Amino acid sequence: MIRACVIGWPISHSRSPLIHGYWLKQHGIDGSYTREPVEPSQLGGFINGLEAAGLAGCNVTIPHKEEVFKLVAHADESTARLGAVNTVFRRDGKTFGTNTDGEGFINSLNSSAPGLILKDTRVVVLGAGGASLAVVNALLEQGVAQVALANRTLAKAEQLRQRFGARVVPIAWEDAADQLSECSLLVNTTSLGMKGQPELEIDLSRVDAKAVVTDIVYTPLRTKLLEDAAARGNRTVEGLGMLLHQAVRGFSLWFGVTPKVTQELHDMIARDIDPGYGA
Ligand code: ATR
Repeated sequence: MIRACVIGWPISHSRSPLIHGYWLKQHGIDGSYTREPVEPSQLGGFINGLEAAGLAGCNVTIPHKEEVFKLVAHADESTARLGAVNTVFRRDGKTFGTNTDGEGFINSLNSSAPGLILKDTRVVVLGAGGASLAVVNALLEQGVAQVALANRTLAKAEQLRQRFGARVVPIAWEDAADQLSECSLLVNTTSLGMKGQPELEIDLSRVDAKAVVTDIVYTPLRTKLLEDAAARGNRTVEGLGMLLHQAVRGFSLWFGVTPKVTQELHDMIARDIDPGYGA
């Protein structure tokens, strides 16, 4: 029996057990994937005790991603640039940390907006928090020419420029709408538009007809940003895709099978988020 889990504090909201549970069943693997609440003060003991606890590894969510990066002995280059880990696995008696949020974001785009070219293009990213970090890093790795980064607190966008270099161009939050012309992609990484949060209000009139608009918010499944963009005729990519695609590599590392993000999996999670989905 191979065991993995997701850790966070609190953790009750995580849908990862549903995703991994679906794949375990689909592939007939003798494994389990559970939610484990881990208090910040217990985190070091938990990561160092994976082997003793009989765990192949874990996913890591808020607020532990940065701290786990510091705790793991080994991390790849891209993860080190981020300084945040969302997936822990063990090899040869050692504990490794990696981050699959960026590839989750890119693979979701590739799957839902096939043919989108990012290389040498300009993209606009809204938000400069933890989620933005992984998205900006992934877009730079894809070879974008420029990330126009709008954030309410401009200093945080400036920190990302210091971290990632001059391809990141901080812009004032009020100027975001003016930056939308000649961009291939608009991404919302803020919490605006999420259930229970204020709406994201942005004038999309300058967005190029060929641009793709995506949101990392997936509650609701289709945010106002996506609805507004679709009403203008733009291609849109829902935030749920990133959640599903980021889970793939962890499953493969722990359970030894690379799973697929199927329509059936998508619909199952979509129904968990919105019981009226597909009805
Ligand atoms: P996450 O890890 O999900 O990215 P976070 O690090 O708290 O969470 O970042 C939240 C993002 O949403 C930030 O970019 C935040 O802007 P600030 O850096 O100015 O706080 C943005 N955000 C949250 N509420 C907002 C609001 N009412 N208006 C504009 N931006 C907002």
